[in-house]
Amino acid sequence: MEKKSFYITTPIYYPSAKLHIGHAYCTTIADAIARYKRLSGFDVFFLTGSDEHGQKIQQKAEEAGITPIEYVDKIVAGFQDLWKRLNISNDDFIRTTENRHYRVVQEVFRRIYAKGDIYKGEYKGLYCTPCESFWLERQLVDGKCPDCGRPVKEVSEEAYFFKISKYADRLLKYIEDNPDFIQPISRRNEMINFIKQGLEDLCISRTSFDWGIPVPIDPKHVIYVWFDALTNYLTPIGFLDDPAKFKKYWPADLHLVGKEIVRFHTIIWPIILMALDLPLPKKVYGHGWLIVDGDKMSKSKGNVVDPIGLIEEFGADAIRYFLLREINLGQDGNFSRDALITRINSDLANDLGNLLHRTLNMIGKFNDGVLGNPGPLQLVDKALIDVAKDTVIKYKQLMDNMQLSDAIKLVWTFIGRSNKYVDETMPWALAKDSAKKDELNRVLYDLAESLRIVSILIIPFMPDTAQKIWKELNLPGAIKSSSIDDTKWGGLPISLKVNKPVQLFPRIEVEETQPEAENIQLAKKKTTKDVNVMNADNIGIIGIEDFSKMDLRVVEITAAKSVPKTEKLLEIMVDMAGEKRTIVSGIAKFYTPEELIGKHVILVANLKPAKLRGVVSHGMLLAASKGNELKIVEVDMPVGSRVK
Ligand code: MSP
Repeated sequence: MEKKSFYITTPIYYPSAKLHIGHAYCTTIADAIARYKRLSGFDVFFLTGSDEHGQKIQQKAEEAGITPIEYVDKIVAGFQDLWKRLNISNDDFIRTTENRHYRVVQEVFRRIYAKGDIYKGEYKGLYCTPCESFWLERQLVDGKCPDCGRPVKEVSEEAYFFKISKYADRLLKYIEDNPDFIQPISRRNEMINFIKQGLEDLCISRTSFDWGIPVPIDPKHVIYVWFDALTNYLTPIGFLDDPAKFKKYWPADLHLVGKEIVRFHTIIWPIILMALDLPLPKKVYGHGWLIVDGDKMSKSKGNVVDPIGLIEEFGADAIRYFLLREINLGQDGNFSRDALITRINSDLANDLGNLLHRTLNMIGKFNDGVLGNPGPLQLVDKALIDVAKDTVIKYKQLMDNMQLSDAIKLVWTFIGRSNKYVDETMPWALAKDSAKKDELNRVLYDLAESLRIVSILIIPFMPDTAQKIWKELNLPGAIKSSSIDDTKWGGLPISLKVNKPVQLFPRIEVEETQPEAENIQLAKKKTTKDVNVMNADNIGIIGIEDFSKMDLRVVEITAAKSVPKTEKLLEIMVDMAGEKRTIVSGIAKFYTPEELIGKHVILVANLKPAKLRGVVSHGMLLAASKGNELKIVEVDMPVGSRVK
C-alpha cells in the first residue's frame, strides 16, 4: 500500500543576517513533527529554505559593498551549516534565487495575470522595509509598523496590483468553514477580524530597486518579495515539472510559521492559490516567539543568542530538548541559560542519564551484561508495563495534536516511573539471593525494555540520544528504521548482551561569581577544561588572539540610578555612538548616580548580557580597584572610540 504523504514547511528565512535561537526554535519544531510523522509511517516531505530577494537584502549588500548574490551566498551557507549541526532532517532546501523557483514565480504571475486578477496602477502608500510590508495609515501603531515598531516610509511608484479584495468573502467563508485551517484558535480569530475590516488590493511589484524576479510581462518591475517567497512552497514538489509528485504532496499538510507572518500565510497565500485554482494548505500554525531573559531579541539590545555557540557548548540534543520541552507551541516562551542548564542537569543528566547508567550498570554487575530469561510478571512489574502502554497511547494523541511539550513531559513521567521501579524492586537485594534469579531477570528486562521504548519515543526530539541509547542496549538494526508500532511492550530480545554504561549527558556545574555580577552564574562542564572563565584565582597567560576578542569601547554615561533593594548596584545608561545600553554595575558604594553623568568610560561591549536583580545588563564598565578603593577608568576620547 502506498504510504500517506505529509508535507511540512518552515518559513524561508531572510538572509539579511545570521540566524538566531528564535529561528532555530521554529525549524526544530518542524523537524520534530517531520520525524514523528516518519516514525508513524508517513511519506514526509520537509521543506525549509531562504527568502533572498527584496529591498532589505539589496540595501544590506550595498552597505557591505558587495553584490546581493555574494551577500546572500555567504549567509545562506551559514543557514545550511546551522541546520546540519542541529540535526535538521529537511528533504530539500529552497533558495528563492534558484532558477527552478524563478520559473515558478513567473509562471504563477503569468497565470494570475491571464485570469484578469492582476492589473497595473500607481502605488502611493507606506512601506516597512525590514518587514517588507505595505501598510495603510489606519493600520499603523503610533505612526510605526504594527509588526516591528520601526518607522515606515512613503512610497509612490507605478505597480502591478493583485485583486485580493475580490476573494475576501470566499476566504472568510473558507476560514469559518474549516476550523483547523488556522491554528491556534487565537490567531484564527485575529485573522477573521483582520479580513472583516476589509482587504485592499495588494501591490505586487516594485520599481525602485531591482533585486528580485522580473515581472514577466514588464521587466522593469520586480515581483514583490512576499509574492515571490510564498510560492516557494510549490517549487520543490514538482508544480511545473512533476505532476505525480505535486499530486502526492499538495496541498501542504502544515505550514509552520511565526505569529507575525500568519497574516501573509492565511490571506495572501490562500488567495494566490484560489486564483491558481489550487487547493489550500490544510493547516497554518502560528507559533509564539522566543524571548531572551524576558526581553525581545534585538541587535541593539545586544541580547541575540547564537545557536551555534550553544550547540558547541551543550550539544544539539540538549538545545532541541530545551526548546521543545520548555515552550508551549502557541505561546511566547523564554530562553535563559540558567533554565537551559537546569533542564540539562535535572531531566537529561539526572532522570534519563541515570536510568540508562544504573540499568546497564546492574545488568553488567549482576548478569555479566546479558539479559536472562525474565521470570513471571508480578504486580509491581504489571504496574510499570501499564504505565508504558498508557504512555504510548497518550503520546500519539499529544503528538498528533502538536502538543510537543506535553508529549515530552509524558515521556519524562514514564522515565521517572521507571526510576521509581528500581527503588521498588531493589535489584541489588534480589542479586544476593540465587533463588530470586528469575525475579532479578524480570526487573532488568523491564528496565531495558522501558529504555528501548523511551529511545523510540524521543526520536523526534533528540535523535542522537535515541541512537546512543539504542547502541548502548546493543539492539539489532538501526533505530532510524523503527516505527511507532515498535513501542509495543515486549519487543526487546532476550539474551541480549548490552554495552558498558556511558554518561549520556555530563552534569553542568554552576558557580557563583563575585563582585560586579553578584548573581551571574558561570556554567562549565565538569568534563571540559575551564579555559574561558576568569576570576581572581585563575588569571593565566592569554594570547593576543584572546585579548582581541574583547570589544572595548568609550561610552558616555547619560543616566544612572540605584537598583532597588540592593546596596551595591547601580543601573547605568550609556551612549555608545548612537546605541543606548543599560549596564548594571556594583559601584554604588563608590559613586553617587549624579557624579557619574557625563563621564567617558570604557565598556566591555561584547560581554554576554546577564540579568541582575531583574535588570538585563549589556556589558561591563572597567574599573580599577585595590583594597577598599575603586575608580572607574575614565578616558578623554570621543564616544565610540575603540580601546585596544
Ligand atoms: N522571509 C519571511 C518568511 C517568508 S515565508 C514564505 C520572514 N523571514 S524571517 O527570517 O524574518 O523570519 C522567519 C521566521 O522566524 C518567522 O516565522 C518568524 O516568526 C521567526 N522568528 C524570528 N524571530 C523569532 C523569535 N524570536 N522566536 C520565534 N520565532 C522567530 O519572515
